[in-house]
Amino acid sequence: MTKEVLFGKLWEIYTAQNPSVKKVYNLFVNEGETIENDHIAFRTFDDPRINIEVLAKPFLMAGYEEKGDYHFEAKKLYAKHYEHKTDQKAPRVFISQLKTAEFSSFLQDTVKALADKIDGDLLNSNELIFSGNTWGLPSFEVYRQLRDESEYAAWLYVYGFCANHFTVSVNYLKKLNSVEKVNEFLKKNGYLINDSGGEIKGTPQELLEQSSIKSEIVAVDFEEGSFEVPGCYYEFARRYPDSTGKLYPGFIAKSADKIFESTDFYRKE
Ligand code: NI
Repeated sequence: MTKEVLFGKLWEIYTAQNPSVKKVYNLFVNEGETIENDHIAFRTFDDPRINIEVLAKPFLMAGYEEKGDYHFEAKKLYAKHYEHKTDQKAPRVFISQLKTAEFSSFLQDTVKALADKIDGDLLNSNELIFSGNTWGLPSFEVYRQLRDESEYAAWLYVYGFCANHFTVSVNYLKKLNSVEKVNEFLKKNGYLINDSGGEIKGTPQELLEQSSIKSEIVAVDFEEGSFEVPGCYYEFARRYPDSTGKLYPGFIAKSADKIFESTDFYRKE
């Protein structure tokens, strides 16, 4: 599968599940902007059947290679990022996994049961990354219990394997060429910016600035009925050149740590 097919399919699923993303995309296009993706992010659990290495497979086959890795102590996450070997413009791929051993036996048993339910053929195919929730109708009670321990785990329980967010590269924007301008534009159009850790994460000195809109709230079917829960979100990133003149290619753990909270509405309500 080429990276174009891979990203095309991921984009289709992501925008179908989160209609506001397409609206934001169109707002930029109507301003005359061209959208290039800085990176695309995925979430998973560290169960060896579905961990980072498993999700990375189709990207490695499409010409990507592993670059950096990141630790998020408070959220109990580990992540890796991948870059395309030759195409500088290709989006980076960021995959994180929850360190389940650091959670309750309830969470660990739940995750194991979910992985047990995934069809073996699917696990061995390149389709897992598109498969969404393959473990069936979620229980709202389980969702709530997971959320008490890890909002990340609860989100993953509901949505399964899909892009958690796409990220617009601000470097390629002509008019809205700073994260400040992007944020003002989004707010003017009625979108909420994730302000955990400030509206802009990172600084020009750190060579990466990021912001994101809060997840769309979507109605999801649970065993107990339909409930509105946070979906995916859209992110924006501007990279700065390092001392050699090359744009900084990596990620900043303390910024990404706050970006993860774009799907977390409950704490503030
Ligand atoms: Ni991101």
